[in-house]
Amino acid sequence: MEQQGGLDLSSMQDKIAIVTGAGNHGIGWGLCQHSASLGMHVVLLDLHESLVKQAEQELLALYPDIQCLGLKCDVTVPEELAACLVEIQKRFPGKSIGAVFANAGVIFNHTILRSTVEEWMTTLNVNVVGVVNTIQAFVPVLQSQGTPAIFSATASVGGLVRGDGGAASYQASKHAVVALMEALSFELAVKSPNIHMHVLCPCIVQSGLMRTSKLNQRVKAGEVNQADVEPTQLSRNDLAMATERHAEQVFDHIAEGNFYMITDNVRPYVDHDFPFDGMSIVRERYENIQTLKLDNSDAFNPGTTGIPSAILKGPMFEELKRRSQARKSGK
Ligand SMILES: NC(=O)c1ccc[n+]([C@@H]2O[C@H](COP(=O)([O-])OP(=O)(O)OC[C@H]3O[C@@H](n4cnc5c(N)ncnc54)[C@H](O)[C@@H]3O)[C@@H](O)[C@H]2O)c1
Repeated sequence: MEQQGGLDLSSMQDKIAIVTGAGNHGIGWGLCQHSASLGMHVVLLDLHESLVKQAEQELLALYPDIQCLGLKCDVTVPEELAACLVEIQKRFPGKSIGAVFANAGVIFNHTILRSTVEEWMTTLNVNVVGVVNTIQAFVPVLQSQGTPAIFSATASVGGLVRGDGGAASYQASKHAVVALMEALSFELAVKSPNIHMHVLCPCIVQSGLMRTSKLNQRVKAGEVNQADVEPTQLSRNDLAMATERHAEQVFDHIAEGNFYMITDNVRPYVDHDFPFDGMSIVRERYENIQTLKLDNSDAFNPGTTGIPSAILKGPMFEELKRRSQARKSGK
């Protein structure tokens, strides 16, 4: 039997969607909104009680006909995920889980020589072990249900392309998520073909990921009170995908049965013609592997952002550079 077939999304109605990293207004929030629009009940998990409760109320105001539950959950702590499952089963008796999005993540944008061991540990712990913990908490339930269900882990297009300067810990973790999900798909292909497995590889989506990651470190260090945490502001890139439109693209991939969900900045999900063009950058890596040579030439160019990059280039970044120059020259 083939595991990665398409999925009739109407079968998700009245089922539960669980989304980790859903407390800010980023990718997780978009997934929550789209799940709710399909008639799913939504469980929002994130680090801080204040965030998830706020997000829960916001979602309920938009979709009053569904049930919604925001729970504080640190994905690096398996016991917290287990406690969430107990709470979910208590709050939604008789309802099955239709989708799990292991989406929580962090980024620290430092070179390898400047990054701290703590940043590496946090990145690998949240981005990789957090996904493993989420798999271990919820996949057995999806297996025992035996009905069609979605399990998606959020990697990044950065998990499919060559390592770039500046965020090696992030990219290493996202490469790991891709391999992890390929392995999970292999392990469950025969046993649990009801589970539709996906790895989400977004290009550029509006979010406050860098700010969120910094803020969460400050909470951990006791510099900010957890009860005072507010949603972080979104990035100001006009060409980035809005989270709701991004989620539409994700669910279109799921309906199509695509395992590698590369969500690029393309129409109809954006209203411009400056794609990130993730697939071309993925292809460059595979061409390098085939010739056994790493093409590092981008390291010698200032790049469109002013920082050399083998990833942040292509039509979107060319256009951002053009707009920035036009602003500076007052045109
Ligand atoms: N925004 C993009 O362009 C982009 C591109 C590629 C991949 N991603 C990935 O998408 C995912 C969502 O990021 P986003 O950009 O929407 O930013 P975001 O800040 O909205 O989402 C990340 C969330 O994860 C939460 N989180 C961090 N550590 C956690 C933990 N230990 N337990 C539970 N929750 C935790 C944060 O509080 C935050 O709400 C991340 O995995 C990120 O790496 C984002």
